[in-house]
Amino acid sequence: MHYFQYHDSELYCEEVPLRRIAESVGTPFYIYSHGTLKRHFEAFDGAFQGLERLVCYSAKANSSQAILRLFARLGGGLDIVSGGELFRGLQAGIAPGKIVYSGVGKRIDEIDYALQTGIRMLNLESVEELHLVHQRAETLGKRAPIAIRVNPDVDPLTHPYISTGLKKNKFGIDTAAALEAYRLAATLPWVDIVGIDCHIGSQITQAAPFRDALASLMELIRELAQTGIRIRTLDMGGGLGITYNDEQPPDPADYGKAVREALAGTELALILEPGRVLVGNAGVLVTRVLYRKTGDSKEFVIVDAGMNDLLRPSLYDAYHHVQPVVHPQGGARMVADVVGPICESGDFLARNREMAPVNSGDLLAVMSAGAYGYSMSSNYCSRLRVAEVMAAGNRFEVIRRRETYADLVAGESVPGFLA
Ligand code: LLP
Repeated sequence: MHYFQYHDSELYCEEVPLRRIAESVGTPFYIYSHGTLKRHFEAFDGAFQGLERLVCYSAKANSSQAILRLFARLGGGLDIVSGGELFRGLQAGIAPGKIVYSGVGKRIDEIDYALQTGIRMLNLESVEELHLVHQRAETLGKRAPIAIRVNPDVDPLTHPYISTGLKKNKFGIDTAAALEAYRLAATLPWVDIVGIDCHIGSQITQAAPFRDALASLMELIRELAQTGIRIRTLDMGGGLGITYNDEQPPDPADYGKAVREALAGTELALILEPGRVLVGNAGVLVTRVLYRKTGDSKEFVIVDAGMNDLLRPSLYDAYHHVQPVVHPQGGARMVADVVGPICESGDFLARNREMAPVNSGDLLAVMSAGAYGYSMSSNYCSRLRVAEVMAAGNRFEVIRRRETYADLVAGESVPGFLA
């Protein structure tokens, strides 16, 4: 459920027509619905009611300060994968004790930053990392609260680039080795074993992979208990999918039920790291049609947003609905490629798409773009990163201004020998 609806043939975000925002901020821009974000967070969190839980929103999905602040206000924590995300989280007012840190390649400075800040848990992904974290904790005189990220070898049945819980993936430590890693951790004086963690992939649209992963983790928790290692916290990661086209993912309540069943009779505290399910359908990318062009065998709609603004179609061949911001009156539907201005054939937002007829100057809404949209955008081709806007009721505000040409060269310098 989201608050992007048509009224009288015009697409609105809550009570604001997207056309009005385009007139005010120009195109392209990302627009997020405050009411949808809030509703998604509450529905997700509510699915685990009664359990001791912390919803650590996965910052990588969309790390805008306004969104982090909103989730923080609703009681959320943060799942981070870099020092930069830690900085963003702290800036947004998220308490360090609500931040968890996963990632296969944490650098020393990032580990130190996390230890000094006093975050809730570092999810460790290799034995070498465990040794390093222990050593840094001792050096800094700050104990390290850790979990081992277990790779349960479960097929999440998703796009290969975003599946993470298979043996062949670089993530986590496989179950047998994890047992050893915990035994080792138990001997390291500056490390506190607080939890166990997994994250098996993203855009998962079935409950079974989650159930399998949970079963595998619960088994490991029992084995650990037998060797005297008590796990207090289970971090389930993220991964719950959303509807982009016709997918029918489990809703948060079903997902919550599966987790509840697995945890029954335990005293485990639960951490969840949802990203996409909270923000994906709460955001839209609005772009303007620059030209139409009829090729030999194809119709092209050339728009002012490109793969640098929304990479998902190019990278994963991902599907996003493309809808007119103002529904045309009449006219035959057409089949077209919606493409951007970038000098690559992979620069498309939709291919062979049946859509309402559009003309140059029209606005299009690329739907379900709230997750991994802006956060994966770049300055490729020296294109300016777009504006982000948030609407609530009949108000809207820019939450990140469009970049300027000056921003493009702001961090650069010419070496003395070229002066
Ligand atoms: N926790 C960890 C450790 C993760 O690696 C991820 C996502 C999440 C949580 C959040 O997963 P979510 O709930 O959003 O599925 N760029 C890709 C998605 C990559 C996901 C990476 N990790 C895309 O656009 O589909």
